[in-house]
Amino acid sequence: MGNRTVNRMGYGAMQLAGPGVFGPPKDRQAAISVLREALANGVNHIDTSDFYGPHVTNQIIREALHPYPRDLLIVTKIGALRGEDGSWNPAFSAGELTRAVHDNLRNLGLDALDIVNLRIMFDVHGRAEGSIEAPLSSLAELQRQGLVRHIGLSNVTSRQIAEARNIANVVCVQNQYNLAHRSDDALIDELASAGIAYVPFFPLGGFTPLQSAELSEVATRLGATPMQVALAWLLQHAPNILLIPGTASVAHLRENLAAADLHLPSDSVETLNRIGTAKARTEAHP
Ligand SMILES: NC(=O)c1ccc[n+]([C@@H]2O[C@H](COP(=O)([O-])OP(=O)(O)OC[C@H]3O[C@@H](n4cnc5c(N)ncnc54)[C@H](OP(=O)(O)O)[C@@H]3O)[C@@H](O)[C@H]2O)c1
Repeated sequence: MGNRTVNRMGYGAMQLAGPGVFGPPKDRQAAISVLREALANGVNHIDTSDFYGPHVTNQIIREALHPYPRDLLIVTKIGALRGEDGSWNPAFSAGELTRAVHDNLRNLGLDALDIVNLRIMFDVHGRAEGSIEAPLSSLAELQRQGLVRHIGLSNVTSRQIAEARNIANVVCVQNQYNLAHRSDDALIDELASAGIAYVPFFPLGGFTPLQSAELSEVATRLGATPMQVALAWLLQHAPNILLIPGTASVAHLRENLAAADLHLPSDSVETLNRIGTAKARTEAHP
């Protein structure tokens, strides 16, 4: 990503904040252990944001890992502010984006951010068309000032990515995608041809992890867990996919990292492909 090479299995730090990604976790030492265990097992790509907590997740990353190893790539995102009730609110003015970059720098203890994803919030939970020229130009200005090395996008459409690439060099896209939620199939191929990394969020289904009879059946057949199969499917699906599964548990972390060594035979892939196709059919004809 950008000018950096990372292992395909990274780690998403969102689960390290308190319930609802708001406030501190119940057990801060456990959160620190998860991060240290991730790095001890070869993770060199961590996804975060200063709006997780807010501030909490970045502060835990700093406490656990600073000074950071040279090969660690920390990717953050800006574009939202949390309300006092934990709500997620768009924050796209030049001033808000500048403050967000400085919040990330301060709480992570960095002089420059490796990659900043502009998280589009026209629709908080899904994608919606609309020009992103103004906020992206603000982020590009922060890049010119040397505070941001590379720019990525999150929660975006193909049209928004095309618009963005006329303004800045886009190194990665982070959208919701997993074996049951496949609306980005064509986009992933488009990005692969352009040499842009695709980093799915909710790779395991997010707050309600994936559950499906086909997934359990394949897992049993291969002697793996359903979550490992879901991650292995993503790794095999396209070469530009990089993973950032989230967990607050060392045991789940180890389980997820081991999925990098799981090979899915073609008959298993066919079974798993039916999950997303069946869901798309149901959505089209409810
Ligand atoms: N750009 C965006 O808008 C956006 C949105 C959401 C997330 N993200 C990023 O994407 C990363 C990944 O998303 P996510 O963490 O929300 O969702 P996820 O990786 O799909 O799933 C996380 C959930 O799965 C559980 N889990 C993880 N490993 C498991 C295992 N081996 N067995 C059973 N359950 C397991 C976790 O609970 P436990 O803690 O109990 O393991 C947690 O509830 C985040 O950390 C964040 O960095 C970005």
